[in-house]
Amino acid sequence: MKIKACIFDLDGVIVDTAKYHFMAWKRLADELNIPFTENDNEQLKGVSRTTSLEIILRKGNKVYSDTEKQAMAMKKNEWYLVYCSTINETEILPGIKPFLDALKVNHILIGLGSASKNALLILDKLNLTSYFDAIVDGNKITEAKPNPMVFLKAATELNVEPMEAIVFEDAEAGVEAAIRGGFYAIGIGDPEILGKANLVLRSTNEIGMELLNLN
Ligand code: G6P
Ligand code: MG
Repeated sequence: MKIKACIFDLDGVIVDTAKYHFMAWKRLADELNIPFTENDNEQLKGVSRTTSLEIILRKGNKVYSDTEKQAMAMKKNEWYLVYCSTINETEILPGIKPFLDALKVNHILIGLGSASKNALLILDKLNLTSYFDAIVDGNKITEAKPNPMVFLKAATELNVEPMEAIVFEDAEAGVEAAIRGGFYAIGIGDPEILGKANLVLRSTNEIGMELLNLN
């Protein structure tokens, strides 16, 4: 099957915002006296803000009201946005920009499939928005990864079948979403965590046009 589109997760694939998400969640967890490590953070990658908060609170032993939880999620996002405020093109992960250029030259469609409600803001800061033929973010979906909705919606907007598209993901939940949706899933990161992917690359540095001939 000829690959017609590449669909990218944002955080941890295009830009290393995963570290800023972690810093903000860690700050909240510390305030609440809940133990939270980088290892725990793996479960938060790719999942929505509210689900992330639930996962953290489950590690503590207190019950909070919905109003308290809303305030916590808002506070985390405010911190996250401060950490992200200085993001610019220099923080695009290695290999991504040349790959996007090569996709454009070869008329391969480019999509975004991110759980983040801040995706557009971050893409703008990176000066990448104009590359994307379809952008599906956390504001457009009701079911979070590992549900495939975000990628299926991107494929529909791009007018391609899932089997005609590659999904690039750094999160376990994201890889699972891509596989469930019928996409060719390329994981970026640790093969032990992303083992369900069709292929795992250690870093975005290894992404190139040859990947389009693999499936
Ligand atoms: C991405 C990240 C998650 C983050 C989620 C929601 O998928 O991997 O860590 O929690 O988006 O992001 P938001 O910017 O809407 O809080
Ligand atoms: Mg990610």
